[in-house]
Amino acid sequence: MPTCQKEFPIGQQEEHKNSRRAFSKTLALSLVAAGSGLLLRSKLTGTELDHPRMQVASASELEVGDYKLFRYPMDEPCILVRITENEYVAYSQSCTHLMCPIHYNKENQQFVCPCHQGFFDAKDGSVISGPPPRALPRYRVSVEDGIIWVG
Ligand code: FES
Repeated sequence: MPTCQKEFPIGQQEEHKNSRRAFSKTLALSLVAAGSGLLLRSKLTGTELDHPRMQVASASELEVGDYKLFRYPMDEPCILVRITENEYVAYSQSCTHLMCPIHYNKENQQFVCPCHQGFFDAKDGSVISGPPPRALPRYRVSVEDGIIWVG
């Protein structure tokens, strides 16, 4: 038996089997990476995000100015705010600067990021001041039969 076969004892049949397995693994990892990339892209653009609907609260639960924290769509921290009698907004709770959790300030209807003094307008998620480079990722909110839905 040649030395190379002793050192690499993989026959031609096994070699093809291993190649297919490696290809399948690469394909699966590529699909996961592509999905993650799409999610990251939507977060970076600060646009309204579209995901499956989820029931977040009942309308009677929140007075005007109240907020509720929830996790959505992939267990990420989010915040729902009742801005006016008939207007609700929902955003990712992660600051677009370095991902610190933002807090709602009811008095001036702003989100504050305590890490580096970033301020966002609660009505549309836009940056008011500070280092955040873009608006907060926003989720669609709808109210049906007294139930508040996000997505
Ligand atoms: S992490 Fe929010 S301002 Fe820096």
